Amino acid sequence: MGQPARTAPDTLPHSNTLEISASFPPDFLWGVATSAYQIEGAAYEDGRGPSIWDAFSGTPGKTYQGDTGDIAADHYHRMEEDVALMARLGIGAYRFSISWPRVLPQGKGSVNSRGLDFYERLVDCLLAHEITPLITLFHWDLPLALQSDGGWLNRETALAFADYAEIVARRLGDRVRWWATLNEPWCSAYLGHGSGEHAPGLRDLQAAITAGHHLLLAHGLALPRLRAHTRSDAQLGIVLNFTPVYPADEQPETQESAQQADAFHNRWFIEPLYCARYPEALFSALQVQPPAMEASDLELIAAPLDFLGVNYYTRLLVRASAPANGGPISARLAHETVAPVPGSSYTEMGWEVYPSGLKDLLLRLQHEYQPKAMVVTENGAAFHDEWDGNEHIHDGCRIAYLRQHIQALGEALTSGAAVRGYFVWSLLDNFEWAFGYSKRFGIVYVDYSTQRRIVKDSGYWYASFIAARRPRS
Ligand code: NOJ
Repeated sequence: MGQPARTAPDTLPHSNTLEISASFPPDFLWGVATSAYQIEGAAYEDGRGPSIWDAFSGTPGKTYQGDTGDIAADHYHRMEEDVALMARLGIGAYRFSISWPRVLPQGKGSVNSRGLDFYERLVDCLLAHEITPLITLFHWDLPLALQSDGGWLNRETALAFADYAEIVARRLGDRVRWWATLNEPWCSAYLGHGSGEHAPGLRDLQAAITAGHHLLLAHGLALPRLRAHTRSDAQLGIVLNFTPVYPADEQPETQESAQQADAFHNRWFIEPLYCARYPEALFSALQVQPPAMEASDLELIAAPLDFLGVNYYTRLLVRASAPANGGPISARLAHETVAPVPGSSYTEMGWEVYPSGLKDLLLRLQHEYQPKAMVVTENGAAFHDEWDGNEHIHDGCRIAYLRQHIQALGEALTSGAAVRGYFVWSLLDNFEWAFGYSKRFGIVYVDYSTQRRIVKDSGYWYASFIAARRPRS
């Protein structure tokens, strides 16, 4: 490592921190996030087993230009350097995921201790630099061996996940306070099994519902195992993605289709977790059957959580359209998306920049579900970044995006939302799933041909923003 913790960043070209008027508590977590498959690389090293994303990205036509996570940002070999960089920027917390197939190459059975060793080194390195770790146990890279037995369509996978969670907690539970079971189960269920855009690539809405239920069950079964093997002050939660839906007009049909879209995009997972039931209209709107379940499933799933992880990027503006049997999901749900919204700007993902959606969302979650605490576990933007080979990358659009969303977060906090942290997606440019390396979300640029890291202006901006809020000792 060789780098002292907590040195000030070298240069702060964007010290415009005063532009954010909201105030935040001194112990608020200011972090950055990544996930294993998106940054680690070293896909065949130190005993790691294959995951469904190795198989999917290795299948022609599934990802942009056939990109894979084989090398990614080579973080597995550059972990110390990356942690030192975070420390140099004054980052207070780091959300990362553990690769299940590194720990259990077959998904269950024999443990690969070299996999656990890597994450132990990472955690110790973070703590040495006074960076708070937040572990995500599942960020989509299911061990391929489990997929051969049906993956998330097989109830047994939920049991295997709980065993895996306990194995990790036994190794790291004494040092790590913040744990999330799953990242965005909506994406694993729907993008993985309904639309087929993600691994394992199925296109069957009924399968998506089954997968979704087993993902929730996995979470519910893992919670008590994590409680038993983590510190007494552990904070256990789950990370959900939300895309708030706004009706584009006052027509009753539009209001109704916005409700249906909301059940699908936003309530499918939170309702079982916080209310022990699926949203009423969900299955009929999707024209599918409810999942098969056992009597105690919903009670297990709804066990109390210490925090809700909230991922927010954009909103949906919808108006009613003629309902259709089958076809794209929006047609089944009888809406079309209004885009582009006049006057709005868009990121490289084609997502509308809509900061007040974050404030609305946090306040809605607070009022409807009363989570003990919330953490914004992801927020950020892909823009086209140009690197001319020199020291600076001018990404003013990303600075504006982050500034506006942090402002909205501050307003939500002032209005009563119990938010305890905010994590920028992402520390580094990385493998953006089906989009491969074509989309860059990092506040640090990665030159993939040399693996050199170049801090973007947004990285320096975030560093100066955090520094201005650090309690003085
Ligand atoms: C959600 C996912 O958790 C993350 O893996 C992804 O890269 C970002 N959002 C951006 O799409």
